[in-house]
Amino acid sequence: MRKWKEVQEMLWGKWVMSMDKQSLQEELLDVVKLTKQYLCEQGIKVENSVQAECAGGLLDLKEKVNNCQKCPLAKTRTNPVFGAGDEHAKLMFVGEAPGKDEDLQGEPFVGKAGKLLTKIINSIGLKRTDVYIANILKCRPPGNRNPEPSEIAMCQGYLLEQISIMKPKIICTLGKFATQTLLNSQQPISQLRGRFFEYRNTKLIPTFHPAYLLYSPGEKRLVWQDMKKIKTEYEKA
Ligand code: URA
Repeated sequence: MRKWKEVQEMLWGKWVMSMDKQSLQEELLDVVKLTKQYLCEQGIKVENSVQAECAGGLLDLKEKVNNCQKCPLAKTRTNPVFGAGDEHAKLMFVGEAPGKDEDLQGEPFVGKAGKLLTKIINSIGLKRTDVYIANILKCRPPGNRNPEPSEIAMCQGYLLEQISIMKPKIICTLGKFATQTLLNSQQPISQLRGRFFEYRNTKLIPTFHPAYLLYSPGEKRLVWQDMKKIKTEYEKA
């Protein structure tokens, strides 16, 4: 077993000593994630437990979400909806909250709006399985009402952890709630959409929510423009 000092010098040299706790933690998570990813990609035959660890951080987090009782939505949900897709995806979509179908199936975006999201993803030559899809809230607000600020405050930590484990290169927020929450902004979605913002070492671009497009199909044109920007960035990432 290597001594801590050796590991420290090998990985980062002496400057690690001057890092604050948060940055050090982020560096460590990065190194662990990249090492695990590398081992998996190389097909290096290690113990099954190590292979399984590729998705380890997320599995632990999913377990936490499944057992979460932090807010009253835990009492009314059928299933929490953690997220779905490729955990190593370059592109992550973030929606608002599960609806009826998602609550029943435990999967994000499987209802009408979800079918439209699939088409939107396909429009830039990707499949749902090429990207990761998550929501701000993991549980359905009864009757599909808007998320309460207190629910967002209690739940958003899970999404932030998903983002720091997965480190997508691009995040596309869908609609007002996901956009305003991640950007910590009160500006309307109509003013924020279609622009890239720097967000935790990723590029974040808001666009309209597919559920909104079901009622305002004329706005699909703008989402198409946003998706073209995402495709250009995706190809560079
Ligand atoms: N709308 C959302 O914002 N998320 C879902 O998962 C489904 C519908």
